[in-house]
Amino acid sequence: MSAGRVAGKVAFITGAARGQGRSHAIRLAAEGADIIAVDLCGPLSSVAYPLADPADLAETVRCVEALDQRIVARQADVRDLASLDRALREGVAELGRLDIVCANAGILSSGSLAELSVQAWREMIDVNLSGVWRTCKVAIPHLIAGGRGGSIILTSSVAGLKSYPNMAHYVAAKHGVTGLARALATELAAHQIRVNSLHPTQVDTDMIQNDIMYRLFRPDLEHPGREDFAAASRATGLLPVDWVESADVSSALLFLASDDARYITGSALPVDAGALIT
Ligand SMILES: NC(=O)c1ccc[n+]([C@@H]2O[C@H](COP(=O)([O-])OP(=O)(O)OC[C@H]3O[C@@H](n4cnc5c(N)ncnc54)[C@H](O)[C@@H]3O)[C@@H](O)[C@H]2O)c1
Repeated sequence: MSAGRVAGKVAFITGAARGQGRSHAIRLAAEGADIIAVDLCGPLSSVAYPLADPADLAETVRCVEALDQRIVARQADVRDLASLDRALREGVAELGRLDIVCANAGILSSGSLAELSVQAWREMIDVNLSGVWRTCKVAIPHLIAGGRGGSIILTSSVAGLKSYPNMAHYVAAKHGVTGLARALATELAAHQIRVNSLHPTQVDTDMIQNDIMYRLFRPDLEHPGREDFAAASRATGLLPVDWVESADVSSALLFLASDDARYITGSALPVDAGALIT
């Protein structure tokens, strides 16, 4: 068994094909964990930027195996309890246990609340809030059965603690995730299962590096680009950075997953360059 801050543990990660999810898989594997990775690997009707594809998930598998850790990867939709449950059961059967849960899968779309379509509202709540609930629902019985406690980390957002215009459905879903973490922390403490939420500011992934986000942050420009967005994004925080990297979020996630955080539960940890106190 390799040495590391989560050596010998098994982590279940949703949305693991790319972005923060892949980064979490790599960081936890580098610290000795085996990985159960799921991703939709396909489009959603209300999401205007491309989501991950099967080649992205295959790349996550390659990265984890290159670190000499095991990975069970499945295409599964967090909107579908049965597919999520099957993927996790197969992973636990192969890897033998479950210790860490990273409910990370998520989407972004935009529009004023009055303009948002019923479909956009439903899909947002179904993926970003109910998807997190389903992830916890399928995982908790494995954690309890293991009898060794565990760490559940729910990826919320700065938008889970403060509001932004033209994304009320995202803000509502992410506030819901913050509440879910607190409620679950209360419910699961007796099993030594800790539950915390993570609150990143803008992270340099495909979710934000696209026209929708550029227009959301720069409504003053007709054709805003990456540099225009960078300036507006930087202005949301205190530290002089345009955005944070997935690796920064993974560092916070690793801390919460590891025994270094053994008495931390019910917390909401920002990785926000100071955005929450501006
Ligand atoms: N990028 C940011 O600025 C930012 C900021 C704060 C919070 N977040 C949150 O971080 C999380 C990760 O986002 P990211 O930045 O890595 O973006 P990303 O788009 O690169 O990754 C999201 C992943 O989730 C997957 N996914 C989407 N719907 C799914 C579904 N129904 N079932 C299974 N998988 C699904 C996608 O295919 C993709 O691989 C999300 O919850 C997001 O809301 C992102």
